[in-house]
Amino acid sequence: MQHPMLNIAVRAARRAGDLIMRSMNRVHQLEVRSKERNDFVTEVDLRAEQDIIDTIRVAFPDHGFLAEESGHTDGAKYTDGKDEFVWIIDPLDGTTNFIHGFPQFAVSIGLQRRGKLECGVIYDPLKQELFTAARGDGARLDDRRIRVSKQISLEGALIGTGFPFRSNIQWLDPYMAMFREVTKQAAGIRRPGAASLDLAYIAAGRLDGFWEMGLSPWDTAAGTLLIIEAGGRVGTLTGDDYQQQGNLVAGTPKVYEALLAIIAPHLSADLQ
Ligand code: IPD
Ligand code: CA
Ligand code: CA
Repeated sequence: MQHPMLNIAVRAARRAGDLIMRSMNRVHQLEVRSKERNDFVTEVDLRAEQDIIDTIRVAFPDHGFLAEESGHTDGAKYTDGKDEFVWIIDPLDGTTNFIHGFPQFAVSIGLQRRGKLECGVIYDPLKQELFTAARGDGARLDDRRIRVSKQISLEGALIGTGFPFRSNIQWLDPYMAMFREVTKQAAGIRRPGAASLDLAYIAAGRLDGFWEMGLSPWDTAAGTLLIIEAGGRVGTLTGDDYQQQGNLVAGTPKVYEALLAIIAPHLSADLQ
C-alpha cells in the first residue's frame, strides 16, 4: 500500500542514516556533550534530528514533533492531543554504542495521529536494514513482510533487554530478580543497546521477547507499532496498555505472557 507519510518517514530516516554513516570514521574525534551523568549527545544526534525534522516539515508543514534532542516543537505537545499528527523522533538510538564504535544503532521515526500510532520506520544504517509498519498494513523488513516468531514459551526463547542505568538505577534490585528468573528459563538474553532495534528484531522474529524500564516515546513509538503489526504484543510491566513512556514488555503473544508472569512477583510499588 502506498502511504505518503510512511514514504516521507523512510526518506528522512535514510537521509539521517547516511549522515550518521559519514560521521562513523571520525567517531573518536566527535565532540561529545554529557546531558546528565552517562547520558551523551553528539553533534551527529543534533544534525540528524534537524535533518529529519526539515525533511518532514517540507512535506507536512502543519504537523507537530516530539524529538529527543529538541523536545516538543511549536506547541506540539505529545500529551495534549491538540495536534492531529505528531512525529516522534529518535535521530540516533544507541548513542553510547555509536560513540564507542560499537556497531548497533538506528534512526527511529514514528507518527501518531490523534494519539494513535499511524506508521513507523526504524533504519539500521550499518546493515542497511529498513523496518517499516503502517497501521493495519503489517510490518516489513525492506520489502518483505515480517511476523513475530512462533515461540510459545521461554524455554528456547532469545530475550532482549535493557539494563537500568542513569536515574533508572533505582530499579536495579527488582530488575536483577527478574533477570535471574529469565536467565534460568530462556535460551539467552541480549542487551544490544538500541531499544528501537530490539523491538524491530521482535517484529522480525530475531528476538522472542523484551523488557526494559524507563524508556522514552522516541525509543518505542516505531518499534511498538512494528511488533503489533507483526502479530506480537506490547504492554507495561503489569500488562496494561503501553502509553509510549516508561516500562515496556513485548514479545510473541505467549512469550509476552510468560515474561509478565516472571515480572509480577518482583514489582515494587513504584513499578506497578
Ligand atoms: C537508549 C537506547 C538503549 C536503552 C536506553 C535508551 P539513546 O537510547 O535505546 O538501548 O537502554 O534506555 O535511552 O539514548 O541511545 O537514544
Ligand atoms: Ca533512544
Ligand atoms: Ca537518541
